[in-house]
Amino acid sequence: MVTELGFGAMNIPDVMEGEETLRKALELGINFIDTARVYRGSEYLIGKVIEGGRRESFIIATKTPRRSRDGALNDLDKSLKSLGIDKIDLYQLHDVSPVDWNQVMGKEGALEGLKEAREQGLIDHIGLTSHTVEALEKAVDSGEFETVLLKYSPFERETRRIISLAKERDVGVIVMKPLGGLGMPATLRGYETHLDPKTLLRYVLSNPAISVVIPGVRFPWEVEENVALAKSYEPMASEEIGLCDDEADALLGKMAMR
Ligand SMILES: NC(=O)c1ccc[n+]([C@@H]2O[C@H](COP(=O)([O-])OP(=O)(O)OC[C@H]3O[C@@H](n4cnc5c(N)ncnc54)[C@H](OP(=O)(O)O)[C@@H]3O)[C@@H](O)[C@H]2O)c1
Repeated sequence: MVTELGFGAMNIPDVMEGEETLRKALELGINFIDTARVYRGSEYLIGKVIEGGRRESFIIATKTPRRSRDGALNDLDKSLKSLGIDKIDLYQLHDVSPVDWNQVMGKEGALEGLKEAREQGLIDHIGLTSHTVEALEKAVDSGEFETVLLKYSPFERETRRIISLAKERDVGVIVMKPLGGLGMPATLRGYETHLDPKTLLRYVLSNPAISVVIPGVRFPWEVEENVALAKSYEPMASEEIGLCDDEADALLGKMAMR
């Protein structure tokens, strides 16, 4: 069971406050941490924070960009060492595109390696992340993945259909880039808009088919704000969702003109 609000750990290694930010999230009850092999030291930093206890009270999700069985197993070994734990709750195939599909799913492919690791008790669950609807649909249809990680916000709505499909098939849905992606909240401050971080987060949380949303945070105040919103939000009605969609389209148009 995951909290509705999770922790996107991609950028914590970038700032001095990264460790404090993660501690704050755990202290406030967030129980899902999303990281990856390629997030420059993020796994190591998480390992440092969870060292010495409380391991059982949260869920760690990480990812490998490797496409072969041997590559994925090699990465898993590195993830376990960096995190300093003996089992990973959710191991995901990272950023799979339709071009990668046959390789990751085929003989000696990355999925084969992760299934072996699951049998050996090194991971509990297997997921897939992608930026393309085509790969996400294949992942949900395949029945091989317990979760998919995808983009969703008023700016990126083409995944809405996949979110519903995943819910139907009992596949967990993890939402990345809920605030429009890294740097978007800062860009939006240059425009007159209702789409502030609170509204964007509320928009995503209002979709009942979503398991967990993982805004990327670097500073403790961001965690505090996001937790406060997640604890108190009123879900949006479909009319308000439609207004956010229209506003996002208009903003993207203005951004393209600049
Ligand atoms: N699988 C993949 O291929 C993939 C790709 C990208 C991301 N992800 C995952 O998804 C997570 C989130 O994605 P993302 O970081 O790209 O996009 P995001 O969550 O939509 O946006 C992150 C941005 O929001 C800002 N922010 C967060 N909380 C805020 C608040 N309360 N008020 C104002 N600004 C706030 C952050 O500012 P600061 O930068 O100042 O902290 C950052 O610029 C990542 O951490 C990562 O775990 C996965």
